[in-house]
Amino acid sequence: MEAFRIRGGNTISGEVQADGAKNAALPLLAATLLTGQPCTIGRVPDLADVRTMRSLLTALGTTVEANGATVALQTPNITSTEAPYDLVKTMRASILVLGPLLARTGEARVSLPGGCAIGARPISLHLEGLARMGAEIKIEHGYVVAKAKKLTGCRLYLDFPTVTGTMNLMMAATLADGVMIIENAACEPEVKDLADFLIRMGARIDGAGTDRLVIEGVPALSGAHHAMIPDRIEVGTLMLAAAITRGDVTVTGLHPAHLEALIQKLREAGATVDVTGDSIRTRASGKLHAVSIRTLPHPGFPTDLQAQFMALMTVTEGMGIVTETIFESRFTHVAEYARMGANIRLEGQNAIVTGMDGLSGAEVMATDLRASAGLVLAGLVADGETLVRRIYHLDRGYEKLEQKLGSLGADVARVTMAG
Ligand code: EPZ
Repeated sequence: MEAFRIRGGNTISGEVQADGAKNAALPLLAATLLTGQPCTIGRVPDLADVRTMRSLLTALGTTVEANGATVALQTPNITSTEAPYDLVKTMRASILVLGPLLARTGEARVSLPGGCAIGARPISLHLEGLARMGAEIKIEHGYVVAKAKKLTGCRLYLDFPTVTGTMNLMMAATLADGVMIIENAACEPEVKDLADFLIRMGARIDGAGTDRLVIEGVPALSGAHHAMIPDRIEVGTLMLAAAITRGDVTVTGLHPAHLEALIQKLREAGATVDVTGDSIRTRASGKLHAVSIRTLPHPGFPTDLQAQFMALMTVTEGMGIVTETIFESRFTHVAEYARMGANIRLEGQNAIVTGMDGLSGAEVMATDLRASAGLVLAGLVADGETLVRRIYHLDRGYEKLEQKLGSLGADVARVTMAG
């Protein structure tokens, strides 16, 4: 089992390029199932979750060829409509093949993803939406079994702006009869990026990036090329690494508009954040002061940066409140921060963080992707050595993070642990 060994205390500085977005890559790859023609996706990050999605698509009949960060995919025929448990259990986003399979073939058997460390992660809104489009949905032996001779667009209000739910329904609607209107759709940049790709494939979509999507179904989609958006969560994590180590880091190749909430909160904390074109420079020195954050659907503060921002708050001056409104148990990192000396009190969906002068290095356990990123940030500033175990969680969403941080002056090494 691999771990990160971090020796804290270095300030990090320099320049690093953003990679493509994990949460854009997964739906973009799944969307290629909607056509028998060849597609190429650019700026694909080399991540465990992307490799899992490529394996799943191959099992469904897709030929996948990677040439660096450009991946060529073609599914002339769907040879299987089943997403098996052993693949789905390692990556919940496998559920993103449900909409495309149903739209392309009229059937799908996809393992229920199950919960994870941050919550129950139901997919009821995905299934209710597809049922409203005319699909027959059954749950059998832990699988979603869906059938639909032809999906039909409808007017649908989502009780919650679910990101992958919006993606699944939007993909299904591209080949449905009639017009689909999705109200209270997710507005995350990754949803807009998927819509942009689908439009390139010939889909008719209005409102991409807003909370009201109008999709007019077409008989078929063609192949297309699409270079995905940069990973705003990776960028935000690197910005927070600069702030927590009181360093000076420029991240390039990004969309600053995707990070407005974090930019504002870092400035409120006393960091200097300069936006120039497609790059952001983050600097901090001396004491930063605590600010409060509340995670919300985009454009609110992203839940995927909550753990990382909390790491910063553990070493700022004063007390701040972190309110997590998206997931019901996304505070598993709190106990681990406490082992490093952080002062955090949990009250329901609120974490009250009282900043300390510093943290002390310790052996800690990663529980989920973004908690592990937060623990790495805490290790960068902690006194002494921090060992972050189960770093496979981190590898799902960050490409060679130890190399990126190392190139900026951090002392981070990937080590193999017994057991
Ligand atoms: C996507 O997950 C992201 N994953 C998550 O990133 C991200 O945290 C999340 O959106 C919120 O931004 C991918 O894009 C692959 P949701 P998703 O459906 O789509 C409730 C990471 O670290 N809900 O928007 O699964 C649900 O319980 C990952 O990269 C229902 O109640 O999130 C949760 O409380 C973690 N019923 C809330 O909505 C449903 O049918 C947000 O879920 C669906 C969701």
